[in-house]
Amino acid sequence: MKIVCTKDYQDLSRKAAMLLSAQIIMKPNAVLGLATGSTPIGLYAHLVEWYQRGDLDFSEVTTINLDEYRGLPRDHAQSYHHYMYTRLFHHINIHPDHIHIPDGAEPDPLRACAAYDVMIQRVGGIDLQLLGIGLDGHIGFNEPGTAFELGTHCVDLTESTLAANQRFFASREEMPKQAYTMGVKTIMQAKKVLMVASGKEKAEIVKKAFFGRVTPQVPASILQMHPDFTLMGDQEALQRIL
Ligand code: GLP
Repeated sequence: MKIVCTKDYQDLSRKAAMLLSAQIIMKPNAVLGLATGSTPIGLYAHLVEWYQRGDLDFSEVTTINLDEYRGLPRDHAQSYHHYMYTRLFHHINIHPDHIHIPDGAEPDPLRACAAYDVMIQRVGGIDLQLLGIGLDGHIGFNEPGTAFELGTHCVDLTESTLAANQRFFASREEMPKQAYTMGVKTIMQAKKVLMVASGKEKAEIVKKAFFGRVTPQVPASILQMHPDFTLMGDQEALQRIL
């Protein structure tokens, strides 16, 4: 595990975007695993800026998103589809057929999830997986207690995640209670993993996940076992481990 400490959120966003850019420069047909949440927003803004400046080419890149709320149509303002298109895909030259996000509008979990794992294998696996971390240690939407052996599957969101993500919805009732997510097994199969963490509210879980026991109760803790894992955090997020 490598740990990179950045000054602040701006510095984190720029350095993480540099790592994704390096991956694309070194392998123009790279398969990138992408994440949502508030942490990667600055990073995506840099990728758009560098593309517009002519420094990046996404024409051969494939992207595979981690997760999506079950039951949200693609055009819902809080769907991860909407997030990804408005923050990144609409602004770069990625081929529409190269974009993959679990289909939240597919009501059958088996259909939504099995096809996703087959697709990941078909594109040759993920070269670089970007991750954020939930306050309870979730990665993607793999909540505490999720078996490490699972591939893409349907999950019930925990109280902690519902509470953390409710700010994006008008009311708790409107918020989906389930999601489709890549499993921990799928994430661990990525060749490289980069986690971004920002802010003091992440400090405690960062310490627990990467300096505590490896346990399904803290899903991110399994990343300690990944052969090429980088944790990049700002000083606030890393304050308990520095
Ligand atoms: C959501 C996403 C995760 C993300 C997490 C943390 O639950 N499913 O992929 O890592 O939130 O988000 P934030 O970066 O907003 O703290």
